Amino acid sequence: MAPSGTQGIEREQRIRFRALSLEDMPRMMAWLSDPDVSPWYGEGELTIANLTSKYRGPVESTEPTRPFIVTIDGTDSGYIQAYVIDDYPDYARQMELPPGAVGTDLFLGDPAIRGQGWGVPVLRAFHRRIVFGEMAATLAVVAPSPGNARAIHVYEGAGFRWLKTVSIVAAEPDNTGDEYVMTMAAAELAIGRLDAESVHPCVSFRLGAAKDADS
Ligand SMILES: CC(C)(COP(=O)(O)OP(=O)(O)OC[C@H]1O[C@@H](n2cnc3c(N)ncnc32)[C@H](O)[C@@H]1OP(=O)(O)O)[C@@H](O)C(=O)NCCC(=O)NCCS
Repeated sequence: MAPSGTQGIEREQRIRFRALSLEDMPRMMAWLSDPDVSPWYGEGELTIANLTSKYRGPVESTEPTRPFIVTIDGTDSGYIQAYVIDDYPDYARQMELPPGAVGTDLFLGDPAIRGQGWGVPVLRAFHRRIVFGEMAATLAVVAPSPGNARAIHVYEGAGFRWLKTVSIVAAEPDNTGDEYVMTMAAAELAIGRLDAESVHPCVSFRLGAAKDADS
């Protein structure tokens, strides 16, 4: 079960995002080969050469996607990336989202980490620090396969809500197919499920204040 309230915040503090390097490709290949990951995070034929070719642009910042290794307590645990959707015009035309929307993709590669409730705090820390922080997104977007019920459940737990399902046609077969488009605004991150306990007294206070003002 995903952690809630202060437990979720404590978990977020144990998470770091470090820039992906080409030296990470063997680990990425091992993670992406896991049958619990590969149906949902297709990267074509998994060879070091193919992965190096695919990730060189983001690693060397010649492509706009920002790639990170997720570390938990200092241990490499997964991969996460973010991109301004408008930087990919063909995808942006099909997605029809407001300017400044930022898309995120991730997988937790370490099997000891997957299934332990880390997905929600990883997503929330990433959106606080990178997507709404450094990248100043107007809207956060995730677009899992409609069949990826586990990811959809975790994205809902992080504060995302379904907007629409879009059939994407792309040059790469792995990027073609239906996407279950879910969005979250910065304000929704601030009042999401994980923060419910800490936000609640403040909301109660404001409700009380409004009542006092009325009387
Ligand atoms: C998706 C992913 C990031 C989720 O993170 P996680 O930490 O493993 O998530 P957990 O397994 O701890 O939590 C899963 C939640 O979904 C629920 N769940 C698990 N399988 C489910 C299913 N088939 N249908 C619906 N809910 C499911 C769990 O009960 C749990 O719910 P809870 O938190 O309310 O108790 C991770 O599993 C992963 O990397 N998967 C492989 C790659 C992938 O799918 N990436 C996303 C591509 S869009």
